[in-house]
Amino acid sequence: MIYPIVLYGDPVLKKPAELVESDIDVKQLSEDMFETMYQASGVGLAAPQIGKSLRMFVIDSTPLDEDEGKEGIRRVFINPEILETEGDDFAFEEGCLSIPGIRADVQRPPKITIQYQDENWQEHTEIIEGMPARIILHEYDHIEGVLFVDHVKGLKKRLIKGKLGNISKGQVDANYRVKLPAKAVRRT
Ligand code: NI
Repeated sequence: MIYPIVLYGDPVLKKPAELVESDIDVKQLSEDMFETMYQASGVGLAAPQIGKSLRMFVIDSTPLDEDEGKEGIRRVFINPEILETEGDDFAFEEGCLSIPGIRADVQRPPKITIQYQDENWQEHTEIIEGMPARIILHEYDHIEGVLFVDHVKGLKKRLIKGKLGNISKGQVDANYRVKLPAKAVRRT
């Protein structure tokens, strides 16, 4: 099932998400999240982006890793914890399915140690680096209620402010199904 993707301006994106309990069908939910992510040509999707305030996200770094001749990582992360980050922060231009049409450089560390459960509730601890680490840190932010634009400061932030306002008002151009923020729905 493809979910509409929640857009910037929806409060669910700003709220720290809840732990995923075992009564949730995480297999089905992760399949749906992959399907939703792929139809929007994304490389990561967190549950709050489909309106579910749960600590869970999926990633498939294949499209980005292929460019560098590497094999991608396709994974489901449930109740993840970032145990450690390593290396010097570096800038990379990020975007987000919930914030269409905006891209900006974000500083993040290149290497992480992450503990999580998979869609079979198996526990893992893994060291991940490169593009998958970047995607995971972006998605992990989502379950903490943080968006990549929250890391953008100064002039660049002022430049994108108008565009962010437009998205939250429902003035948005995306080639996938979206759910407009409630504010925007009331206005139209
Ligand atoms: Ni995002």
